[in-house]
Amino acid sequence: MYKIELGKSGLLVPTVAVGCMRISDMNEKEASAFVEIALSNGANFFDHADIYGGGKSETVFGKAISPSMREDVIIQTKCGIRQGRFDFSYEHITESVNGSLKRLGTDYIDVLLLHRPDALCEPEEVARAFSELKASGKVRHFGVSNQNPYQIQLLQSCLDMPLCVNQLQFSVMHAPMIQSGINVNMYNDSAINRDGGVLDFCRLNKITIQPWSPMQYGFFEGCFVDNEKFPELNKKLGEIGEKYGVSKTAVSFAWILRHPAKMQPITGTTNLTRLTDCIRASEITLTREEWYEIYRAAGNILP
Ligand SMILES: NC(=O)c1ccc[n+]([C@@H]2O[C@H](COP(=O)([O-])OP(=O)(O)OC[C@H]3O[C@@H](n4cnc5c(N)ncnc54)[C@H](OP(=O)(O)O)[C@@H]3O)[C@@H](O)[C@H]2O)c1
Repeated sequence: MYKIELGKSGLLVPTVAVGCMRISDMNEKEASAFVEIALSNGANFFDHADIYGGGKSETVFGKAISPSMREDVIIQTKCGIRQGRFDFSYEHITESVNGSLKRLGTDYIDVLLLHRPDALCEPEEVARAFSELKASGKVRHFGVSNQNPYQIQLLQSCLDMPLCVNQLQFSVMHAPMIQSGINVNMYNDSAINRDGGVLDFCRLNKITIQPWSPMQYGFFEGCFVDNEKFPELNKKLGEIGEKYGVSKTAVSFAWILRHPAKMQPITGTTNLTRLTDCIRASEITLTREEWYEIYRAAGNILP
């Protein structure tokens, strides 16, 4: 699988990341097989959060990684979501990292993200936490998730390290950041700029966008592949999949990977065949025509 630089971090990462939000119920054998399939396909970047499975996802993963494997995997985790509130305080960030280190059974985290904007965020406080975590060697690189350009700029203005990631919901069925760019200045709903131009902002500032829920429609409403609600999209994904000899799932990933922003989509499946499909989508390059055909088949409009 080809690699990309994660933001301006200097860290080279596979272009498909493996999401671990749904692995909390795996037993040891299943978790080892999951990690093994990912690694054998070149996908050594794993995405976590302190809250996934109430901490169980990190624990399950930590047991599946032996100490001798640690240097061969890149572990990203997140903090900042708590029951009923968001929390970017110095105390919560540092406590959350200590908890993740313990559950993951490691002494460093490669990438730490702030999970979802905290309305009470004080950038100086975040900067103090990040600087200490970096100096102590507990965290190597930093980023954010679900943030708009001004939120990123505000944080960045206080930090002495670059934010290298912004994780955002993105798929062919959830593409407001593409829609608003295509429909600039039009009187239609697709023209509504919901994110402050985050796609172009991240490209301009060399921040890697990591699409989450790449196979879902709505907010965790379900997978769009083989879903009777989306006949036109499934027909198109099927036709293009047949041409390349891959599944509809792989074509959906290839659609994200075809965008020149060099995004790093995150898989969500726990099924080993589908996981392999998602990872191997990086071997396909859709044509410009196919990319737009899929975009339109998903119900997105052109002006
Ligand atoms: N930053 C954030 O706010 C945020 C939010 C959500 C998620 N994330 C990250 O993003 C990752 C991916 O999100 P997600 O889990 O919602 O991803 P997803 O790939 O959109 O959804 C995966 C779910 O769809 C199911 N599915 C059914 N048919 C499928 C098919 N043909 N292909 C693929 N999946 C199919 C999977 O079931 P099977 O397991 O049976 O395949 C699984 O339950 C998470 O693991 C997490 O790391 C981040």
